[in-house]
Amino acid sequence: MRKPFIAGNWKMHKTVAEALELADGLRESLADVATMDIAVCPTATALHAVSEALAGSNIGVGAQNMYWEEQGAYTGEIAPPMVKELAQYIIIGHSERREYFGETDETVNAKIKAALAHGLTPIVCIGESLEQNEAGETVSFVRSQIHGAFAGLSASDAQKLVLAYEPIWAIGTGLTATPESANATIRTAIRDVLKALYDEETAEAIRVQYGGSVKPNNMAEFIVMPDIDGALVGGASLTVEAFSGIIKNAVAALNG
Ligand code: 13P
Repeated sequence: MRKPFIAGNWKMHKTVAEALELADGLRESLADVATMDIAVCPTATALHAVSEALAGSNIGVGAQNMYWEEQGAYTGEIAPPMVKELAQYIIIGHSERREYFGETDETVNAKIKAALAHGLTPIVCIGESLEQNEAGETVSFVRSQIHGAFAGLSASDAQKLVLAYEPIWAIGTGLTATPESANATIRTAIRDVLKALYDEETAEAIRVQYGGSVKPNNMAEFIVMPDIDGALVGGASLTVEAFSGIIKNAVAALNG
């Protein structure tokens, strides 16, 4: 049984003071939630403060990016042991990083291996563009991203990953995939591929989040889908009201 997991990707938002205000509010608002995993992913500058503010709570902390080398002359980068001091999750290969910062399936794979070597849980983002979607290339493209991400990983390592299926055209646009189509893509482009690469147990063990314009009023319809195990939330993770609304609505939908 996969435990649902909802994470907030704060992207390039919030000063330390603003991040602390949000973290404190979420800690209070979500204190009673025990049936799902929750995490927030602040900017690197706010990671330390937020990880202290959420210590001992039911909200985990993730970073949004890191390099794969242990240390060295890589100006501006953050190494896995540095992330590990402050976080348990690491978002890898977000479409914004692929689009604006040149990330490829190869760099994503290197970062996944570095994360696993340091005991971090990768949240690996995949998803097709609008052009690919309209050309009917969604399944083949997402399958190729899965092959790239999992290259060289053993089944036991593969099971430690979390995937976030985020159709690029649904990110920040107010458009969402329909729950049925997101579920079908996760089944045919992700779980079927994992079953072929590994085995059924591995394919069914890996948690897959949906991402792309998730809001309090649409979370329920995604979380009840059999292959969707939670969400990676951008804009609606930036206020206590919206992010806790998403989580409470997910809990209610699963209980009902
Ligand atoms: P939005 O929820 O703002 O569409 O962003 C989704 C996302 O990119 C999460 O990583």
